[in-house]
Order: sequence, then C-alpha cells, then structure tokens
Amino acid sequence: MRKKIVAGNWKMNMDYNEGLSLFSELINMVKDEVTGKQQAVVCSPFIHLHSLVQLSKGYTKFSLGAQNAHQAESGAYTGEISAKMIRSVGAEYVILGHSERRQYFGESNDLLAKKTDTALKHDLNPIFCIGETLQERESNKHFDVIKNQLAEGVFHLDETSFGKLVIAYEPVWAIGTGVTASSAQAQEIHAFIRKEIASKYNQQVADDTTILYGGSCTPKNAPELFAQPDIDGGLIGGASLKSRDFVDIIKVYNS
Ligand code: PGA
Repeated sequence: MRKKIVAGNWKMNMDYNEGLSLFSELINMVKDEVTGKQQAVVCSPFIHLHSLVQLSKGYTKFSLGAQNAHQAESGAYTGEISAKMIRSVGAEYVILGHSERRQYFGESNDLLAKKTDTALKHDLNPIFCIGETLQERESNKHFDVIKNQLAEGVFHLDETSFGKLVIAYEPVWAIGTGVTASSAQAQEIHAFIRKEIASKYNQQVADDTTILYGGSCTPKNAPELFAQPDIDGGLIGGASLKSRDFVDIIKVYNS
C-alpha cells in the first residue's frame, strides 16, 4: 500500500526563530488532532533542518526534508549543500526538480537525474516534482512534458531505487497563483503518471508510488483533490506557512 503524505514546502520563508516556533506549533497540533496513518513532512530551508529534526524526535508523524541538494558528493562548490550533509542531520526527504529550481536556476532533466542519483546514494527520499507551464497546457503538450520529465529525470533508476521516490505533480500555472487544478484535471494527470510508471516498471511499482498534487492547495480544496483515486497527498507551499491551514490539510486523511 502506498503512503499518504502531506508535505510542506516553506521555500525561502521563515527566519530561524520563526521557523522553530511554527514547527513547535505544528507538532503540538498534530499530536492532538491527527489520527490517521498519514505522514507529514516539512521541507524547510537548510538552516532550520538540524533543529527541526531534534524537535521532532520521538514523534514519528513528522519527517524533515530539504528543498534542494547538489549533484556532486562534495568539493569546491562554494555555497552549495550536499545530500550527505542533509542526511547527516537526520532529514529523510529532499525536494528535487521544483519548477522554481527549473525556472530560476536552469535545472534541466539531465541535471535532476544526477541529483536524484546522489540523493538516493545518501539515503534521502527525493520528492521529485514535475508539471507543465500554462503555455504547454494551452498548446496541449502537457502529457508530453510530463512523460519527458519522467523519462529523462527518473526512469533511468532501477525498480528498487525508483521505489524510494515520491512524485509530485505541480502544474506551474497553479503554484502560488491561487488557481488550483480542478480535481478532474489533477486526477487525469496522476492517472497518466501512474500508467507511465506501470509501463516503465510494472503495475505493482506503479500502485506503490505515492503521487502528490501541488499548486494552491488549501484546506478548502484538499478534501476533493485528495479523494481522487490517484492522488496520495499534497505538496503544500503557501498554506504550509500557517499552522492551522497545514494541519487542516494533514487532517484530510484522518481516520
Ligand atoms: P503553493 O506552492 O501551494 O504556494 O501553490 C506549492 C509548491 O510550490 O510546492
């Protein structure tokens, strides 16, 4: 059975003290209110990671993740952070291929394939993001874009390594815009992603892959999105910065 995951992506928000108080608030609320088997992940800036891992100790509902990692093992890459460093503070996930990294930092599918290999080598679970731009959707290229991002970014992996990934479908036009994909649009792409995984690997691998939806997800629209058969949770940006909203989204999976 695939995991249900609600992951927060803080992006470049929250100074150190703000981040620690938000996370403490989250832990307390989740302890009291979350009753299902869902997993919550917080992908904070690097600077918070070590302290957040410490705060989450003894509380298995929360895992921590980074938002990027370098493709090289180590070396003369001033200002960069390695997968090994991230793992060494106890983080378990890393977001790779977020559209903001693709767009503002020129990250290509080839580069992301390398980042994925290095992250996996150091025992991190990549949350691998894919998604089309508005222009690509309007010119009816969205299925091709998704297919290509998967083929070039992650389909070089063997079955065991692929099993460590979480895939996040994030239509670029829905990120931070307040425009959400309709549940039917999201389900259509999620089913397509699962079909692509099944034809590359097999049906079992496809059925076991957690596929998250991201893009203007809120407590209001999450119940309908998460009720779709191929949507296994969310990657939440803006709403993950508000403890009440984020916990309400996690609670969509309460039993
Ligand atoms: P958003 O961001 O929820 O603010 O749209 C989602 C993301 O970029 O992961």
